[in-house]
Amino acid sequence: MFSKRAAARRRRAAEPDVSVAVARAERRLEKHSARSSPSTRGASLGDAVAYAAIALGVCLMLFSRRIPVHAPEDFAPMRRAGRLAARALAHVEPHVVPGVDTGTLDDVVRAFLASSGARAATLGYRGYNHSSCISPNEVVCHGVPSASVVLNAGDIVNVDVAVVTSEGWHGDVSRTLFVGGRAAADVAARRLVDTTRDALRLGLEACRPGARIGDVLEPIAQRLRAEGYGVVDRYAAHGVGRRFHQPPTIRHGAGARRGAGWRLRPGHFFTIEPMATENGSVETATLRDGWTVVTADRASRSAQFEHTVGVGERACEIFTRDDAR
Ligand code: MF3
Ligand code: CO
Repeated sequence: MFSKRAAARRRRAAEPDVSVAVARAERRLEKHSARSSPSTRGASLGDAVAYAAIALGVCLMLFSRRIPVHAPEDFAPMRRAGRLAARALAHVEPHVVPGVDTGTLDDVVRAFLASSGARAATLGYRGYNHSSCISPNEVVCHGVPSASVVLNAGDIVNVDVAVVTSEGWHGDVSRTLFVGGRAAADVAARRLVDTTRDALRLGLEACRPGARIGDVLEPIAQRLRAEGYGVVDRYAAHGVGRRFHQPPTIRHGAGARRGAGWRLRPGHFFTIEPMATENGSVETATLRDGWTVVTADRASRSAQFEHTVGVGERACEIFTRDDAR
């Protein structure tokens, strides 16, 4: 998930129809080269202007809010990225036991990805230097793995793994786990985790081409709010593909209105990653490490589940489904 600030920065970027501008510049270049004799040497001012227009167009494309529509052949490498992320998460799961520190868990993720010829998308991302985010109890998201964060029986902990394959595609997945097994958790923690998992399932069931994103988000928020939980809105789900984070920005709280938002089209790739808080508040705070996000009261716990999905011709495909489970 990424922050509101980054989203606002992207929103400020203009959203002209860049493809039209680029096409126009390209046509101009073509016409120009058709006109010029083979003996024409060097680039004319017209060429320079056209090239500059193309460069500008490419920049605007990168920073615009346009939702990338991926080609049918992009599904296969996304499947590989998603499956790898899911496998990394499944691989670390048995290591999540009482007494383990989250730095060790991050080492396990990093080693697994290295042995698969991939790496974590989070490694070096905006100064973040870890291969996972590990968020216990009152940590909402972006928990920084550390030797000094030790997990205890009864804790709940979200493990979030985002990978980039050697082919350059991203998969992003997370689950909230029970440390010491489900039986070690108190009833409230079990209800929080089970409800959040179920909420994501309901959202994914509503995912289909032609639906609007609000149709996916509403059942999630409704399920969580019905239990009295807060739906965190400050950290959003996001488009994903060749880039870790790309348009659209998906707000689990504000976007949760049936019939609202953009329409899901074949070729859209994005994450769905609701975060729920135990006490119903959506207020959060960031620790001094600059990353770790906690519930504002630092007591209320939080759970999250995440999948990376792609919209197909007939249905949504979950790229990060873990078939081994
Ligand atoms: N996996 C998180 C997400 O869903 C990662 C956040 S960026 C980080 O986007 F640097 F904090 F890891
Ligand atoms: Co994400």
